Amino acid sequence: MVDAEEFIEETVAEIAERVGEERALIALSGGVDSSTAAALAYEALGDRLTPVYVDTGLMRAGETDSVRETFAHVDSLRVVDARDRFLDVLSGVTDPEEKRHAIGEQFIREFETVADEVDATYLVQGTIYPDRIESEGSIKAHHNVGGLPERVGFDGIVEPMRDLYKDEVREVARSLDLSVSERMPFPGPGLAVRVLGEVTEEKLAVARDATAVVEAELEADDPWQAFAAVLGKATGVKGDNRVHGWVVAVRSVESRDGMTARAQELDWETLQRIQSRITGENETVARVVYDVTHKPPATIEYE
Ligand code: XMP
Repeated sequence: MVDAEEFIEETVAEIAERVGEERALIALSGGVDSSTAAALAYEALGDRLTPVYVDTGLMRAGETDSVRETFAHVDSLRVVDARDRFLDVLSGVTDPEEKRHAIGEQFIREFETVADEVDATYLVQGTIYPDRIESEGSIKAHHNVGGLPERVGFDGIVEPMRDLYKDEVREVARSLDLSVSERMPFPGPGLAVRVLGEVTEEKLAVARDATAVVEAELEADDPWQAFAAVLGKATGVKGDNRVHGWVVAVRSVESRDGMTARAQELDWETLQRIQSRITGENETVARVVYDVTHKPPATIEYE
């Protein structure tokens, strides 16, 4: 485990030295990795750092507000509302890797627009050790690692946390007093990989609301990650009517770094409370199922 105070001091000095008098950009996702990298870079560069948060519409409930709050003191923060554009490029796309690709491409376009306006020569990224391993093994096209630097063209890439594991990043985030330090990991392509098949506003809304319920109800069980995914439709009964409603899967896993994971053993009352909230709070959900599969053979996310 790193010594957080020492790491912060050394890393801030390193970033300041590397970037010198130049300007830098960072893509913020609202998660602990990019927020921590941004906080370190902001200490080193002040307003010569422009954090860019692209609201893709694929994020968790309240994410945009949470980013504004965490970086309220950073005048250079840019929030880009790109929700409609992401829905457009995802329209009709059903293949998981094609979805990731479409999201990655659109993300780069959004980022490029800001990069053109700000004369930045450095890119700061919140890449951590397990990201590099998964990316090198090309298990998935993690869009926060691939593509961006080559396409936008920077003189240098700064990855201050490239050798840290997630629990070490949290330790650093705690030392920096970041309110997001304990947040569960969230995939770059967001809710798009938590709705099977085509991404629609309706499915996104179900996945977003149900994920908020699952995260809140399971916080005390301290999982590595807990969320809901929209699988498809099935028959149910609501009131006196048979309905064809969404099937929502609840997933909660324990892990150290996301590379392997165990499905969490939850008690029946907890599961029933989650089920009754999700079906009760959303008219269009007919069924809730609990995923008991470890990784391997399953992945954590559904796509
Ligand atoms: P899987 O689903 O591959 O997930 O078992 C392992 C960890 O990585 C996250 N994940 C992603 N993160 N871009 C990301 O930034 C992605 O495309 C992506 N896919 C999965 C996942 O949430 C889990 O923590």
